[in-house]
Amino acid sequence: MTPRALVLLTAGILSAQSSSIPPTYNQVFRPQFHFSPRENWTNDPNGLVYFEDEYHLFFQYNPFGDEWGHMSWGHAVSRDLVHWQQLPVAIPEPDGIMIFTGSTVIDERNTSGFCKNSKPCMVAIYTGHRAAAGGRPALQTQNLAYSNDKGRTWRQYSGNPVLNLHMTDFRDPKVFWSLQANRWTMVVSLPNEHKVRIYGSSDLKHWAALSDFGPAGATGGQWECPELFELPIEGGQGETRWVLKIGLNPGSLQGGSGEQYFIGRFDGKRFTNDNPDSRTLWTDYGKDCYCALTFNNLPRSERTVMIGWMDNWQYAGKLPTGPWRGQMTFPRSLALRRTPEGIRLIQTPIAQLANIEPKRARTAGNAGTIASVNRWLTTSGITSDKAFQLKSDISLGTAREVGWKLLASNGNYTLVGYDRKERKLFFDRTHSGLTNFDKNFPDRTEAPLTLDRGILRLNILVDRSSVEVFAEDGRVASTNLVFPPSGITGAQVYANGGETGEITASASSIQSIWISSK
Ligand code: FRU
Repeated sequence: MTPRALVLLTAGILSAQSSSIPPTYNQVFRPQFHFSPRENWTNDPNGLVYFEDEYHLFFQYNPFGDEWGHMSWGHAVSRDLVHWQQLPVAIPEPDGIMIFTGSTVIDERNTSGFCKNSKPCMVAIYTGHRAAAGGRPALQTQNLAYSNDKGRTWRQYSGNPVLNLHMTDFRDPKVFWSLQANRWTMVVSLPNEHKVRIYGSSDLKHWAALSDFGPAGATGGQWECPELFELPIEGGQGETRWVLKIGLNPGSLQGGSGEQYFIGRFDGKRFTNDNPDSRTLWTDYGKDCYCALTFNNLPRSERTVMIGWMDNWQYAGKLPTGPWRGQMTFPRSLALRRTPEGIRLIQTPIAQLANIEPKRARTAGNAGTIASVNRWLTTSGITSDKAFQLKSDISLGTAREVGWKLLASNGNYTLVGYDRKERKLFFDRTHSGLTNFDKNFPDRTEAPLTLDRGILRLNILVDRSSVEVFAEDGRVASTNLVFPPSGITGAQVYANGGETGEITASASSIQSIWISSK
């Protein structure tokens, strides 16, 4: 036991914050620093873009209920990527053609002819989905809508669709401006063929096919929500690679929906995989991160930021929440890192998270044992709230298994741990509280992880009904929903089969982003 593990409170202004959260955003499972719609159903994030001091988050939305249907683009804006204000539906479902997933670009030079008064405008490129009817099969095509008032009102392009292969499954266009090719570039999915097709255009209206990628990696279900972006390699002095990210549903690593990525080069026409096509890399080892999208048009100084839908199609329609269903991940900064296994995607919560940490505590000095760290945690009280960040370095010592017991109450708990023999990080929500709404929900997921110097380094975000784990400075991400009971006693470190070495930890309470919301 180390008496040196003291509580340091850097800003002690946490009070009864819960009482000032508006009732609309204060249900037991309502995320406090993750975006969720005020009411009704959401799935994929859509059209993420930065424009004139605002970050826009559009999202697959059913304006009429808490189940999938009548898909439209919901809309929220933020000035800091943390606080969101939900606006009226941006693109509603017209005449039975649903507005499926897509992206938004800023047309700086009016290449489309949609922009008024020599000002840049917003152009959305989305999949229109016409359901099967009267013996006619369903049809998916790519379409345009545009806005000249910062996304508040939208008009459909009269020449829609701009891409029609007369296919039932052909969807989720991600468009960006390619500096390599000096033109608009689209990646779009042929879900059943397990292919991503790359198109080029000078005006967003006429598209020419440039190349196909796939099948490759995991092909157990449909390919959806492709993304193609360039990232710097950490410490690589400007060296970059391209990442092609693809959603898979079902048939992902942990069952149901999940995402894989490929690392390679993009010459403006074709993506070339650096690894053998048989190699599958997973973006997230939990069950609940799908159809993640990166922001277009971020200021040059900002790193690439990605937001995913924190859910899984296995049980998305059964989540025990209301009056909303569905939420987004916290925005993540992306990079690449050279590891002994090769170049890998790195994900970390955006730095702006610090803006909503009203109270922070950390273990003093650099030493603590389980008993002292847990006593310190209990004193600080931070982790008995249900919205907090936890960072820790746990030296494995002689222990066979170490980790955190989170959201514990009445025999329920969620485990984030490391199995030394198996060299695996795991997330166990089998006893996390409400789990019986679907047989696929109570689960233990695992991620291969080799530790640096025998120290388990974790950054964990807990937000009432979700836990996002970033291990080894973002090398492994594991995102999972949980529905814990009330009366949480606080997070505790645990070890099995031996004694840990030193533990350093910090905990921050996270303030609700809805406090100032209308
Ligand atoms: C993925 C997805 C997309 C589609 C959208 C429809 O979650 O199936 O492929 O565009 O959801 O809501």
